[in-house]
This record gives sequence, C-alpha cells and structure tokens, in this order.
Amino acid sequence: MDERIIGRIEKIVGKEGYSVKTADLYAYGFDASIFHSAPDIVVQPRTTEQVSEIMKIASEERIPVVPRGAGTGLCGSAVPIKGGIVLAMQRMNRVLRVSVEDLWVDVEAGCVYDDLNRELSKHGFFFPPSPGSAEACQVGGMVATNASGMRAVKYGATRDFVLGLTFVRADGEIVRAGTRTIKDSSGYQLARLMCGSEGTLGVITEITFKITTKPKKSASCLCGFDTVDAAGRCIAGIIARPLIPASCELLDSVSIEAVNKARGNPLPDCKAICIVEVDGETDEVIRRDLKIVEEVAGETGAVSVTPSFDSKEIARWTDARKSVMTSLSALKPGYSSVSLADDMGVPVSKVPDAVRAFQEIAARNRVTIATYGHASDGNLHTKMLIDPTDKDEWERGVKAVDEIFDVCIELGGTVTGEHGVGISKAPNYMKERESELSSIIAIKKAMDPLNILNPGKMEQWRGPILTRLRYPCKEFA
Ligand code: LAC
Ligand code: ZN
Repeated sequence: MDERIIGRIEKIVGKEGYSVKTADLYAYGFDASIFHSAPDIVVQPRTTEQVSEIMKIASEERIPVVPRGAGTGLCGSAVPIKGGIVLAMQRMNRVLRVSVEDLWVDVEAGCVYDDLNRELSKHGFFFPPSPGSAEACQVGGMVATNASGMRAVKYGATRDFVLGLTFVRADGEIVRAGTRTIKDSSGYQLARLMCGSEGTLGVITEITFKITTKPKKSASCLCGFDTVDAAGRCIAGIIARPLIPASCELLDSVSIEAVNKARGNPLPDCKAICIVEVDGETDEVIRRDLKIVEEVAGETGAVSVTPSFDSKEIARWTDARKSVMTSLSALKPGYSSVSLADDMGVPVSKVPDAVRAFQEIAARNRVTIATYGHASDGNLHTKMLIDPTDKDEWERGVKAVDEIFDVCIELGGTVTGEHGVGISKAPNYMKERESELSSIIAIKKAMDPLNILNPGKMEQWRGPILTRLRYPCKEFA
C-alpha cells in the first residue's frame, strides 16, 4: 500500500493500530471458509470516530474495506477478495452499559460472545443465540451475518435481539439506527437492514441488544435412533406436544462415526442421534419436559434414551457435537473437512427429507458428507470430506453442493441459516432471492455508491466458487 495512505492511517490509529507486515496480511486473508486473499493493510480501530476517519480516506482513495470480527464465518464474508483495508474490530470489545430494568445492553462490535454473556450473567440475564464459535466470535460479526446456533428454536437468531446499533457509512458518516426501546414502529428498520449485510452496507461499531432472563435450570436427553427419519419424527413430535426445547442437535451416522473415531467414543454407536436440551425456572418444569422428550423418543422408535442432569456428562455431549467439523478431518487419511455447502435451512418438518436427499446426493457424486446441526430450527450443517489436492474431487463436491441447494430451495428452505452468503453461497443465494435481487442491488448502490464496502461479495459475486482456495490445489489458486 502507498506510503502516503499508510501515513494518513497511522495519524488516525497510531503505530500500534495497524500492520502491513507480511505475516499479519497473510493471517487476515483467512476466515473459516475455503478461501484466502490477503489485504494490503490491517487496521484495528479503537473508536467509532476512528472508523469514520478511515472510511473517509477509503472513500477519497477508492480503497476496498472489509470489516471483520473473529473470522469464524464459513463462507468467505470476511476474506478481502479485492485486497484493500481489513478493519479488524477486536480492540472495540467493551460492554458499555447493561440496563437491566430496560432489558438492554450496549456493547462494542468487537466484544466476544462469551465475554458479553459472562457480564450479563452477573445480572441473571443472557444474550441467547449460542453460536458454535461462542468463545471466539464477536457480536459485530454476529449481527453482520445474522448468526445464531443451538438456541435459535426457542430464543431466536441475532437479529431478534437487535434494538439499535451504530454504524459508519461508506462516506464516513456515523449513523445511530434504531432505539433502546423494546417496541419501535418508527419507520424503516435500518438497524435490521444491517443484520446479514456482511459489511457491504456499513461498518457496525456498537450494538444495543435486547437481553432476556437466563433460565435457572436445564437438563438434556441423548436419544439414539436406527434411522435419520426416526430422529426427524422425534424432533417434530417433541415440538408438536407442544414443547419447544432450548436446543436440539442432530448428528447423522457419518458425524457419529467421525466423532467416535477422533474423540474416543463419546457417543453411542447408532445411525442418528438427537441431543435435546430443555430449560426453565424449576426442577419440576425440567423433569416434566424431560419426561415428554423421553416419551416421544420412545414412541418414535429410539434405540437408546439417556436423560441427564449431570453437567459434566452434558458438557461431554456438547463437546462431541461441537467437534464434528474437526473430527471429520480425522476420518479418512489425506482428506479434509471443507465448508462448501454448509448451513442450509429447511422447514423443520422437512429435515428427514433433506437429510435423505443429501445422502443420495453424496453417494451419486462419490463424496462423503456429514450432516448435523440445529435440527429443531431446520438448520443443517453439511460438511464435505475432500482430498484438498484433487481437482476432480473439488468439482464433484461443487456439483453435490449445487444439488443440495436445489433440494433445500425446493423444500421451501434457504441456502444459509446462520453463516451468511459471502462467496461460497453467492450463486445459489441469487437464485433463492431472485425476486428481491433488484431491490438488494438498489439498496447497496444507495448506501455505498463507490462500492468500497466488502466489494465483490453476495449479489456482486461473479464466476465460480472454486477460486482463491486456501488449499494446495494449484488449479484453483
Ligand atoms: C456449528 C457451527 C459450524 O454449529 O455453526 O458448529
Ligand atoms: Zn451451526
């Protein structure tokens, strides 16, 4: 990057607030997706005003800017595919104010999810979405991707908690959007527009989240099944009782095999598993709800039902579930678990149809796919096992992905439930959102006329997704 521009940036954030070292630029070229592309400079602002000053320079000089949190997203949203400035938000990590009586918290965008909840738990409150990457991911990134995780079925996704936020526009103007009230009918909901915008409309610097009381009790039940269909019927049956579980995680046979091999058999050896969590205020409520889960599991043909109040045992199950992605890489020597199709959403009643279709697609395209995830909100993860050096393998993977997305859209679903679009979902996102596309393009043009905010992503992506791969496959470098 031009020394003159580096000098201007240094005046704003100081010497310790940026880096152009090769190692840093390399590191900030990744998120948790399959892509890599290095920026020209990494800037770590401390205040909204600094972000505003940086955006003014970027506008004047027409430099691409990619805001990022911890980079735990799976589809390339935080990869600076056109170089330029990465705005890494981790130094803006303060919880600014908790207003318990008004049910909100003001927090800076770079605050880690678990850190925010540690602060809220002192008051008996929490911010529930529970992403798999809770100990690392930052709340700004959660808003930017409308992230969620295990507890969305009962409590909702990140957007359901955004009352207001501060963002910096492409031209540097600081905007305070939304309110600090629980209700708000005052016109366009700009704060909501920023949810899922993936850094393409503005840089989110502060957020006002609604908070909710933390349930005092919880317990879980691990149910094993002979088929994924039976597991699907169990989940639908629990909800139909009616009982909305706090979370309900599904693992298919490939996921179970991978975890058991990599982690010393923490799970029963069966074809599908549901780990159902219930929560509430009293032991009585928990026992009643757990009984319902056991009953429905029995009625839908569970081969094993293990209720547990033991937090250590439950933590082992949760760890096992969270380790699917990494365990998968240990299943087959020379193969890696990659994020191609990753977090599709379907209506809950269609989960068994979707999982069956994924298994057929995997067999037809000769790839291994593990399906697991947040089944009670219909959000499924499909991790693919690929020899990352093999061009043919990647191409078969992408064909399988396209077929998977077609099935999900046909079933009334979405190509992404919680990780966003970035690059890897872009072509299918455009198919899914066809009717909204001209409005989406118009909004982007109005908010970022020079196209400097995370350019080339989402509706702007052109070309194949097998490009700039972080893996050693020279054809797609
Ligand atoms: C999970 C991440 C991948 O649920 O979303 O584990
Ligand atoms: Zn997830």
